[in-house]
Amino acid sequence: MKNKKNILLTGGTGFIGNHLTNLLLDEGFSVSILTRSKRKNTREVTYYTWDVQKKEIENEAILRADYIIHLAGTSIAGARWTEKRKKEIVASREDSLQLLYNSLQKNNKILDGFISASAVGIYGAYTSEQICHEENPPATDFLGQVCEKWEAAADTIAAMGVRTVKIRTGLVLGKDGGFLKPLTPVFKYGFGAALGSGKQYMPWIHLEDLSRIYVHAIKTNTMSGPYNAAVGDSNTNTNFSKKMCAVYGYKMWLPNVPAFILKLALGEMSDLLLKGQRVSSQKIENTDFIFRYKSIEEALRDSLS
Ligand SMILES: NC(=O)c1ccc[n+]([C@@H]2O[C@H](COP(=O)([O-])OP(=O)(O)OC[C@H]3O[C@@H](n4cnc5c(N)ncnc54)[C@H](OP(=O)(O)O)[C@@H]3O)[C@@H](O)[C@H]2O)c1
Repeated sequence: MKNKKNILLTGGTGFIGNHLTNLLLDEGFSVSILTRSKRKNTREVTYYTWDVQKKEIENEAILRADYIIHLAGTSIAGARWTEKRKKEIVASREDSLQLLYNSLQKNNKILDGFISASAVGIYGAYTSEQICHEENPPATDFLGQVCEKWEAAADTIAAMGVRTVKIRTGLVLGKDGGFLKPLTPVFKYGFGAALGSGKQYMPWIHLEDLSRIYVHAIKTNTMSGPYNAAVGDSNTNTNFSKKMCAVYGYKMWLPNVPAFILKLALGEMSDLLLKGQRVSSQKIENTDFIFRYKSIEEALRDSLS
């Protein structure tokens, strides 16, 4: 007899998915992962494969699922935003969601809930004093458009009558991955510096809190629609850089890295580092979610330890 709710994670092999899998198992859920490469099942996790381009998916993954958490997508910060890469970033999120939708339809399967990753990038890469709330419209720049399409694709599943939650994620701080990974050696060896003006906001969240938000979204039936998943502390890049230097035991001494160098090196993708918005965490906190990490220094100390 099936007694544990089954959570099917797409992209469950990645930075967030790994941590979230462990938390879901600790919470007593059964976990399946949809991945592009064949993997051996473990005692606790069953792996299924899919090929989004060929529109192929192992049907049993869908049949078993009570909830789907959709994390899969080509890395946004992994390579320069050429036109080809931009298409991949969008398609890996939209087309994979379309495949999930079609499979649910084909099987007449109604999930208990669908939870999709999204990003605070929906509000656009710009720096202003405005605090972004969930009801703000999507921006027209590349990241704004990626997130708008990603969320619109998730809404097709909501239209099937499935409770759908969209987690607009800030920069995720955690061990061995994500945003901190490429920065760590530079800061560790004494060369940490702020980027550009340093005044750009950096909405962030600790990986543990983000994973807890996904579990909270499963358990809280009243949650639906978009939620910002970022600490609303209006942290700037200068503050972040100073704190990161402090964690490694020195005072930031280098001048800011000029914006033009990052633009030359990264092209349009430099927006990720040079621009950033303030976001509100009020809506998720109103659902009785309590952040464990609200201090950037504490989150960095834990992530870099
Ligand atoms: N980390 C952050 O700071 C952050 C911030 C905001 C939003 N997010 C979003 O949260 C989600 C998870 O982030 P993450 O940091 O865990 O990413 P990640 O480590 O890059 O993992 C993403 C997973 O997606 C799958 N994937 C990659 N390309 C794919 C493709 N073309 N088609 C289908 N699946 C593909 C991969 O799984 P397989 O190789 O097993 O197929 C990979 O393990 C992403 O959508 C990301 O944009 C992350």
